[in-house]
Amino acid sequence: MNNKEDLIAPLMRRVEEKLAATLKGTQEEQAVNAMCSQVVKSGGKRLRPRLALLSWLCFDPDPSEQAMERAVTFASAVELLHTATLIHDDVIDRADMRRGSPTLNSTDGNHAAVLAGDYMFTRAFIGFNELNSRLLYSEIVAAVTALVSGELDQLREQGDLGIGRKSYYRTIYCKTGALFSVSCCGAALLNGAGEAAVKALRDYGTLLGEGFQIADDILDYSASSPVTGKDSGEDLADGRVTLPLIIALEEAGAERVRLEEAARGNDLAAVKAFMEKCGALEKAQQCADESARAAAGALSALPDSTPRQALEALAAAAARRSF
Ligand code: FPP
Ligand code: MG
Repeated sequence: MNNKEDLIAPLMRRVEEKLAATLKGTQEEQAVNAMCSQVVKSGGKRLRPRLALLSWLCFDPDPSEQAMERAVTFASAVELLHTATLIHDDVIDRADMRRGSPTLNSTDGNHAAVLAGDYMFTRAFIGFNELNSRLLYSEIVAAVTALVSGELDQLREQGDLGIGRKSYYRTIYCKTGALFSVSCCGAALLNGAGEAAVKALRDYGTLLGEGFQIADDILDYSASSPVTGKDSGEDLADGRVTLPLIIALEEAGAERVRLEEAARGNDLAAVKAFMEKCGALEKAQQCADESARAAAGALSALPDSTPRQALEALAAAAARRSF
């Protein structure tokens, strides 16, 4: 956390309390709550709630107690929605580890994990419902639609080494950018902001999400499990064609067929050697940084303020995974 983010520290503590309280539920819900709490407590960067709160403070720098409660409700609901998608994603990806802990599908099986994800999804909507905003609701529904279609696109494109950057950017918007976007512009909508300000935060969230996801895709090739808290090399193993591989394929020239064979055969060492030779990871990092710069640029439509500066810094950090 940088110093500018200290301004949301007390609100983030309330988000943690709200998350825990939301997953208390009734006696009958004890088992599913225990499963969901295990995932929520396993940590995570809480990037979406941080974005929601900083975006909120751009419009309401000195919130009343009532406004703080609404901001915390929004930020917590966004995190619950995100966590629900991760539970389902780990089932789809057959992932064993997340945030350094075993996934629900590995401890409780796929069926229980899907149901726990569904339950978590409803907990998010309890929060959104409390906010009673039709405008926000439409944005959330659009983001969930994008999440689902992004996952479906990804399944359809599995193992397709011919997908280019356009397809990749569309998929990462759907699976990552859309929820970041609503985390930011939702705060603007809840504060009755004008169209230009809502658009600025919508664009900011989308572009930050782009940088964040590219960085995530780089880490899958460059980092070890203790760093990421999840198994590495999963994208190649599952046939997910991400930017580092797209760049390596673009650069391979006459060696393309050999690289395609290595990728199809899940030969991680050979694929990494190709990437090393053409600087694919560095080139992908440049793309992530470019998205981060564009994200910060989108905020120029808002008046300068400490929360705006914190958002600018967060975009750069998200693209470098240095937060
Ligand atoms: C992670 O991608 C995936 C997502 C952020 C989106 C998952 C969305 C769904 C499963 C559909 C919607 C779900 C609900 C509950 C409506 P990744 O696999 O590339 O990242 P990872 O390495 O962190 O797993
Ligand atoms: Mg996954």
